[in-house]
Amino acid sequence: MTTDIVPVNEEYFKKRVFELGKIIREGGLVSFPTETVYGLGANALDAEAARKTYAAKGRPSDNPLIVHVADKKEVSRYVKEVTPLEEKLMDAFWPGPLTIVFPKKDIIPKATSGGLDTIAIRCPANEATRALIRAAGVPISGPSANLSTKPSPTTAQDVYHDMKGRIEAIIDDGPCRIGVESTVIGIEKGKIIIYRPGGITLEMLSAFAPTVVDSALAKGNAHPKAPGMKYRHYAPSAPLTVYTGNREEVEKEILSFAGRKDKTYGFFVSREIADKLDRNLPVFVWGSRDSKESFAHNLFSGLLYFNKHPVDQIIGEGTDDKGLGLAIMNRLTKASGYHIVVEKKEKD
Ligand code: TXA
Ligand code: MG
Repeated sequence: MTTDIVPVNEEYFKKRVFELGKIIREGGLVSFPTETVYGLGANALDAEAARKTYAAKGRPSDNPLIVHVADKKEVSRYVKEVTPLEEKLMDAFWPGPLTIVFPKKDIIPKATSGGLDTIAIRCPANEATRALIRAAGVPISGPSANLSTKPSPTTAQDVYHDMKGRIEAIIDDGPCRIGVESTVIGIEKGKIIIYRPGGITLEMLSAFAPTVVDSALAKGNAHPKAPGMKYRHYAPSAPLTVYTGNREEVEKEILSFAGRKDKTYGFFVSREIADKLDRNLPVFVWGSRDSKESFAHNLFSGLLYFNKHPVDQIIGEGTDDKGLGLAIMNRLTKASGYHIVVEKKEKD
């Protein structure tokens, strides 16, 4: 199969969106842009399309898919109950990077929900993708459009690299604004439980109800509520170790690798540290320490950078857990296979 890349430019896209919607409705796969990462779209009401999705990604089929809707009004067709708190959260954050887990109706096949009785739903903030959902006339399931275990794609070119020949088309709307996936939550006894941290932060959710990170997830447990969290994820092409904590110590530690000749080291660091490294070293700058938004935006392209610039070991600089930092550190923890080094204040 040839994989068609369809740019989002107004007139041309308006014509093609019906054809792309038809591909989805009839069981094909189309990758779509969102504000978080690119998704691998399929008809969420079609069990066979879910099986094709798992096959294209090389993903275990007990890992449930997120269902994308064009509008909040559609949710009641697919779920048994929407509580007043969930209504408020949808009004506040949709369209946007918040995914809510609901008890599902039978119209959503178990193949889509990974065998669960619940379904995760979100309304993405991307006009082309919402037009695609409307054109399809069905909700669109969409895991990130990468091969299983690889970093999530934030450009159409990244999707093409992994999905070429496996899917019918890719809608190209340029780089994703946020760069890390949506926050996945469930409501349990009036509390908001974060199953996967993402673009909507714990601090933002706390304004609506007491909010906690799923305890299993917080401990780095292998069986958190979001089944997808237990698999190897986001693996870059070389082993990654991430240094975080006290800034001076982190800097000292990272710079100490620059002079080492035992292996080739690649650096995945802030502008502030990059400025102190030799320009000839393989360095990817994730942005400034003053902007977690820039870090999130560049996170996955940074992990993919070392595919094209091979090294033996990647040395990364992390951030704290506040705001978007929680989502960033969650992805880096997985990408590094839990190789996170926390630098304490005074070291001798
Ligand atoms: O930003 C995003 O959410 C992107 C874009 C394309 O929308 N999608 C995405 O999908 O990241 P995926 O499949 O890569 O991740 C889905 C996450 C997994 O961690 C999965 O376990 C969790 O959501 N999830 C899905 N359904 C669930 C459910 N019923 N209960 C708990 N967690 C669920
Ligand atoms: Mg994913």
